[in-house]
Amino acid sequence: TTTAFAFILGAYLLGSLSFAVIVSKFMGMADPRTYGSKNPGATNVLRSGKKLAAVLTLLGDGVKGWVAVALVQAFGPAYGLTEQGMAMAGLAVLIGHMWPLFFGFKGGKGVATAVGVLFGFNAWLALAAVVTWLFMAFVVKISSLSAIVACVLVPVYAYFIVGPQSVYFGTCIIIAILVIHRHKSNLINLLTGNEDKIGKPSSGDQ
Ligand code: G3P
Repeated sequence: TTTAFAFILGAYLLGSLSFAVIVSKFMGMADPRTYGSKNPGATNVLRSGKKLAAVLTLLGDGVKGWVAVALVQAFGPAYGLTEQGMAMAGLAVLIGHMWPLFFGFKGGKGVATAVGVLFGFNAWLALAAVVTWLFMAFVVKISSLSAIVACVLVPVYAYFIVGPQSVYFGTCIIIAILVIHRHKSNLINLLTGNEDKIGKPSSGDQ
């Protein structure tokens, strides 16, 4: 259990690395928590107009989600950690991203990290989520709405892909709830017709 704790803590700390903030700092850009939606995430970094920074944020936040789960998959079995440990690490990395230790607990909304975690659980599950996001983004051109719709559908996909008996099924429900919960301000903007389209430059005072 000490090892389990170490894996979970490690996943939380890994999640705490906000790539939106780190990439922006490295590229000499403004802190994404100061403009647009103020969210440290790829969507908001894109509002700066720097596509490469947004892509690097997306990759960094996504890969860390996968790494947290993959580390348990690779090294956990030696310590008796199996799928349950992977599920816990997946939740821990997501919680780290949303409430990061290193950044005053002001984290992101978890979309990229959740996809990475899902990829660690089951590649088909992640693919289904990504295709849903891409399809929605193509149709509505709104990042948050695409993520919310994908979140609603992920448990349905999990039901069919990993099955209701899998520990990943319940984990997917928790992940979906967490990510939707982080989109509260977006839901309000969507309902009042104030949500921005993808890539719309930040007006700076929203
Ligand atoms: O990745 C988070 C996205 O769904 C919404 O981000 O900046 O538009 O609130 P944002």
